[in-house]
Amino acid sequence: MEPRTKNILIGTVTVLLAAALIAGAVYFNRPRVVAVVDSESVLAGITTDNLMAHLKELEAIAEANGGNRKAGTAGHAASVDYVEQQLKKAGYTTERQQFSYDSSGRKLVSFEMVGPSANSGSVEVGTDVDLMGAFHPDEVTADVTAVDLNLEGDRQTTSGCEASDFEGFPRGNIALVQRGTCRFDVKMSLAAEAGARAVIVMNQGDAADRRGIFVGDLSEIATVPVLAATFDLGAELAAGGRVALTVDSPGAVVTENLIADLPGLGGRTVVVGAHLDGVGGGPGINDNGSGVAAVLETALQLAAVDAQPTLGVRFAFWSGEEDGLYGSTHYVQQLSEAERRAIEVYLNVDMVGSPNPVARVYAGTGSDHPVWEVMRDHLRAQGVTTSTANFDLSDHKPFMEARIRVSGLYTGADEPSPNGAPGDPCYHQACDNVTNIDPEMLGLMADALAHGVLSVAS
Ligand code: PHE
Ligand code: ZN
Ligand code: ZN
Repeated sequence: MEPRTKNILIGTVTVLLAAALIAGAVYFNRPRVVAVVDSESVLAGITTDNLMAHLKELEAIAEANGGNRKAGTAGHAASVDYVEQQLKKAGYTTERQQFSYDSSGRKLVSFEMVGPSANSGSVEVGTDVDLMGAFHPDEVTADVTAVDLNLEGDRQTTSGCEASDFEGFPRGNIALVQRGTCRFDVKMSLAAEAGARAVIVMNQGDAADRRGIFVGDLSEIATVPVLAATFDLGAELAAGGRVALTVDSPGAVVTENLIADLPGLGGRTVVVGAHLDGVGGGPGINDNGSGVAAVLETALQLAAVDAQPTLGVRFAFWSGEEDGLYGSTHYVQQLSEAERRAIEVYLNVDMVGSPNPVARVYAGTGSDHPVWEVMRDHLRAQGVTTSTANFDLSDHKPFMEARIRVSGLYTGADEPSPNGAPGDPCYHQACDNVTNIDPEMLGLMADALAHGVLSVAS
């Protein structure tokens, strides 16, 4: 061998050795990679205790902030703080994405009992009385006239359901009617025809869950302000009283989405989201603390095993969902075309702990991603009977409209479950608290989500 050749050979061996050493060092220092789809450690870390602990926190936040976590309120801001702090503790960098929208709704700005019998100061908007509907901003000061109430005994009532109830009703007064028997629209129309300037619908009081404030749906335009009140406030007003109330437009709502990323190796991402805002009439624990808990716990447990997925995973906690999918719509709109195309799938989680659950996986949406079958099969393997859902009433809608593939999980809102009871009898109500959750189903859904995320991302 010529010395020259020998030198080249030694040089080559040295280079190879060095390369091997560097490769070895890189290999052994590499973060643990969770490559297996059914990563037991991730799913084992997602416990019902952890999930329920998040829900208890969210309920306490609502309680401390007027009973709700609605977008633009202190209850929502505190919810963002809580989730952000959990993510940061697990090592995530978080981003708050601010946006605003004009709420087309109306708001009860003030409600006061006035006049000699006034017990003012004791009535709180949002707690004792709130707006069900009003077409125009309005100001009404008038005497209250009780209409065919039944405040004693079984409290069964047809108050305001019959035109004859309003015989002799003093035009220009506020009609006080009791919840029960007929639709709120019927009570409203008959009262308005009789000349009522506003309608207060007091809760029926016939059961423990029909005493407090409630959220009622008016399917007709409210030509006069229609308010929902607690049974107790109604009973107080029934004794005779004068009320001054103001309905205004809430104007711009300024709020934010919360986002955290688990970086991947390439540019593609899985986006997993749940809305963190709730309605004004309750703490929003199944709708949608449940989805938030599932997404948050997935993020926390992936961080706990130092998961390094191939695809990036983006965790999103939307706001403005209840007012019209504003947060998710804003998110999709601000993406560049390239960013949109880099989203492998958007997984939506809205209402996954319903007390009378039907385990549904989003499919047949027209924008399906095959991960839906992975989640379905995982649930089936746990002995869960599954069906599919193809509605577009939640935050996956703007993604579908941007031609991003979607799936998601859902266990039921106010539609009947097979046992006849609504999937969630407390949907959008004050009773949507931690007792309105099936913890076992919530755990199964969170596992299915984490499993779906891992199967796509690894
Ligand atoms: N998006 C609805 C809400 O938040 C709930 C819902 C979820 C309805 C899933 C249908 C299907 O009120
Ligand atoms: Zn809702
Ligand atoms: Zn919801």
